[in-house]
Amino acid sequence: MSWKKVCKATDVAPNTLKKFWIDGGIPIVIANYGSGFAAIPPMCPHMEEPLEISGVISNCVLTCTKHLWAWNLATLEQHGTETEKDIKSYQCKEENGDILALVEEEIVYEFDDEDDMDDDSFFAKS
Ligand code: FES
Repeated sequence: MSWKKVCKATDVAPNTLKKFWIDGGIPIVIANYGSGFAAIPPMCPHMEEPLEISGVISNCVLTCTKHLWAWNLATLEQHGTETEKDIKSYQCKEENGDILALVEEEIVYEFDDEDDMDDDSFFAKS
């Protein structure tokens, strides 16, 4: 386990998220929540939405706009009544203008079968 450089701190503007790949292909999203950075898996723990697209950050809170699950990125606590699962993260730090993440192995979420069905497949004709 070692610290891996993910990007430069200036690569991710305040209140935005950006996806990177490290270690030959592990996807990781860096979230700049204004007063710090978080390194998280790219998928929403609810229904696998890509958070770099569905996520918005305001006042340290990351909200997935698909169904409004939200987390405080400074504490990683759930935020709001909609959220039912914790968000996972890699340890992350800023050093000499770089964002580093401590990655042992790729973090993936377990999804229930019913959660695998997105809106398109739910309404698809058989
Ligand atoms: S997919 Fe993100 S809140 Fe539902």
